[in-house]
Amino acid sequence: MRDASPLAVYLNDYQPPAFVVESLELDFDLAAAATEVTTRMAVRRNPEAVEPDAPLRMYGDGVELVSFTVDGAKPAEGLLEQDAEGLLLHGLPEAARLEIVSRCHPEQNTQLEGLYASSGNLCTQCEPEGFRRITFFPDRPDVLTTYRVRLEADRVQYPVLLANGNRVEAGELDGGRHYAVWEDPFLKPSYLFALVAGDLACQRDTFTTMSGREVQLELYVEAHNADRCDHALASLKRAMRFDEEAFGREYDLDVYMIVAVDDFNMGAMENKGLNLFNAKYVLASPDTATDDDFVAIESVIAHEYFHNWSGNRVTCRDWFQLSLKEGLTVFRDQEFTTDCTLFGVKRIDDVAMLRAFQFPEDAGPLAHPVRPDHYAEINNFYTLTVYEKGAELIRMLRTLIGRETFRRGLDVYFERFDGQAVTTDDFVAVMAEVSGRNLTPFKRWYTQAGTPRVTAATSFDGPGGQARITLTQETPPTPGQEHKEPVVIPMRVAFLDAEGRRITAHQKGGEVQDEWVLELSEGEQTFRFEELSDSPTAISWLRGFSAPVILNANQGVDELAHLLAYDDDAFARWEAAQTLFRRAIRSRIEHDAADTALEAAIEHALAALLRDDAIEPVLLATILQLPPTRELAELFERVDPVRLRNERDDLEKRLYMPLTDAMQQIQPKLDDVDNGAFTAEAMGRRQLRNRLLALRVAARDQAAVPEALAQYQKARSQTMRMGALNAVNELDHEARQVLLADFEKRYRDDPLVLDKYFGLQAGSQVAGGFERLDALLEHPGFRWTNPNRVRAVLGPFMARNERHFHQDDGEGYRRMGGFVEKLDAMNPQTAARLAQPLTRWRKVDTGRGEQMRAELERLAALEVSRDLRDVIERALA
Ligand code: ARG
Ligand code: ZN
Repeated sequence: MRDASPLAVYLNDYQPPAFVVESLELDFDLAAAATEVTTRMAVRRNPEAVEPDAPLRMYGDGVELVSFTVDGAKPAEGLLEQDAEGLLLHGLPEAARLEIVSRCHPEQNTQLEGLYASSGNLCTQCEPEGFRRITFFPDRPDVLTTYRVRLEADRVQYPVLLANGNRVEAGELDGGRHYAVWEDPFLKPSYLFALVAGDLACQRDTFTTMSGREVQLELYVEAHNADRCDHALASLKRAMRFDEEAFGREYDLDVYMIVAVDDFNMGAMENKGLNLFNAKYVLASPDTATDDDFVAIESVIAHEYFHNWSGNRVTCRDWFQLSLKEGLTVFRDQEFTTDCTLFGVKRIDDVAMLRAFQFPEDAGPLAHPVRPDHYAEINNFYTLTVYEKGAELIRMLRTLIGRETFRRGLDVYFERFDGQAVTTDDFVAVMAEVSGRNLTPFKRWYTQAGTPRVTAATSFDGPGGQARITLTQETPPTPGQEHKEPVVIPMRVAFLDAEGRRITAHQKGGEVQDEWVLELSEGEQTFRFEELSDSPTAISWLRGFSAPVILNANQGVDELAHLLAYDDDAFARWEAAQTLFRRAIRSRIEHDAADTALEAAIEHALAALLRDDAIEPVLLATILQLPPTRELAELFERVDPVRLRNERDDLEKRLYMPLTDAMQQIQPKLDDVDNGAFTAEAMGRRQLRNRLLALRVAARDQAAVPEALAQYQKARSQTMRMGALNAVNELDHEARQVLLADFEKRYRDDPLVLDKYFGLQAGSQVAGGFERLDALLEHPGFRWTNPNRVRAVLGPFMARNERHFHQDDGEGYRRMGGFVEKLDAMNPQTAARLAQPLTRWRKVDTGRGEQMRAELERLAALEVSRDLRDVIERALA
């Protein structure tokens, strides 16, 4: 399996399966060392197959074949072929019954795909191609069938036996063993199969659906975590209600189970009726989880729940269609979180994430379309582009056809394709049908990679006169796509007057309005407005971030300050500040000097914002934050990341130093925030309190450090504790060491909280980063086989510790390369992900960039996994 050179799979080669599976029975004789699986399936030739006598392909990966029968007999000589991909069975009749006995080894499975052991329990991860690591099967998402699963295991070691659907039988057996039988009445692809065997405590609740059915909710965790389940269960119920109210979607089984697992490659998995979760996205108590953790848990719980319709009832035909379920489900969970959050801040957070992670991906060597047309390793395509940009496409579709039509389209989509495996084209076709629009031009968003750049120019006559907006677009080339076509860009705009009110006008023949969605579908277009009620002081562009583009509207500082003070669109208001920050950074890097007039103007605008009593705390906290280095790097062809980080931090200091008094004055109003309340208001106020503290420390406010110490000591919640730690984490000061030492002692035996400690240490630029790194890897709580632990150390080191990761002698690159190599031998999927910061070598100044490339080349010369090889080869191409 190792060093399989990546052979690409192409969308154009898609063919329907040669056989359908009419039903499936799986018997598991479970044990950690070796598990025996008996697979019985009824197969029938698929009338839609291209070749009438094609063999049956069953994939298998690291599975031992024990026996194989067709209709009760051994297949004749030569009919059963075993190859690198699994089994090929020739000469089958129209219909047949197969029985396969096979064996796999959960305890040795460090890849965490297929059946594996985690903290003494057995569990599975099958998406996308893990089922073939459990047994031989036509493991592809367009083969759907019903499952009957019998689990048998030691009664003491594995008292809990779970699989998808409903438990129909259970009992005791001789020899200290017991069994359970589960049936899932819904058709499903193998990637949604799951089983769990373990010693787990169950927290229960119930939910009554909109049609009055009672659903049992069961959350399984290790017994010592039983007191950290309330938030996840409450989140699940809110998500279930929201899906009914916002999307008309009801749950369909009598039981919904969630199991928390310590060792997990991703966030969570939507297996039918039996979600498996990274414990990080389940367990929460005020003492151990921050407000951000609470919000993340709620959103992942909702995401997996929403998959029950967008993913499970209607699934993907092939893995090129991954965004069909992921983009749509992210869109749905974003809608849910928006509903739980305040003042448009969710949208801002999503845009900030898109810019910091998806835009760089789309501009780098790993860029790919939302619907890719080939891949070497599908695990490398669970990307920001497929998920987050995919959600943006859904959002744009809704903007273009209108909310009600979109909602009707979703109803038709779920109704028409229920129980089927379909494509993104099918989805868009439904939206075209219900809206009566030709959406073919829109589909370019699915097939074309890269972030479009839009330029806006305007001209005005006086009041009562006309306005003209000219928009142009261009998408830079991406790997394999030199030439780009224009895409359909919905641009939401408004004109604001001197008091920040919206100006009315109309487009030729149109109604009088105060906000428009301009559709830019060509390279250049001009839009005319007539009878403006006033002359605009500012234009509010791309309101709500109506399209995932990079906009250059050439706005002056006064206009941006006006938007920052008045814009009623939260995104646009935040964006005005972001544009100012970016401009100041650009000037520092490109002209090697600060633009003092610009920076004074920004400081002035921020001062006004701090005096504004009307602004919501959470929005203020969000606006005050400068963009992260990784986002700022996108402003330049190549940049020295260490210098960029220093300029960013220096700009922050320069802007907030004169504002420390203003910040101090707000703080007393936030003295009561650590009150155990978990409303959006309470969380927003805590966020502001912590942001002000951090900005004051960054601005060298002498009073802030003792305040941070006091906040930590008095804290009754993890949010306030982390707020204090974050504030001092870049200070080479005793306070930092004292607090971190206390934190480590307090949470040494609590892995999820210990991860926060790892992150603080690894992500800090304080001198001695490599010694700290060594110490973390030696820490008794660190384990190479646990993805959360590894990510907690390596992630922040590469993402936030520019000084060490990009140290100019290349030490950081060599260390990380070495860790990736080590990890690859155990867990290729996580290794391939952690290698990604190294792939950005072309964006880094030449001296460093060459060292990054050299590290990639060193790895390329080794025998690495297909996952890692695919990433490295694309990065070096
Ligand atoms: N479908 C899961 C989710 O979005 C993610 C599973 C990803 N698995 C993987 N091996 N890449 O919630
Ligand atoms: Zn998902």
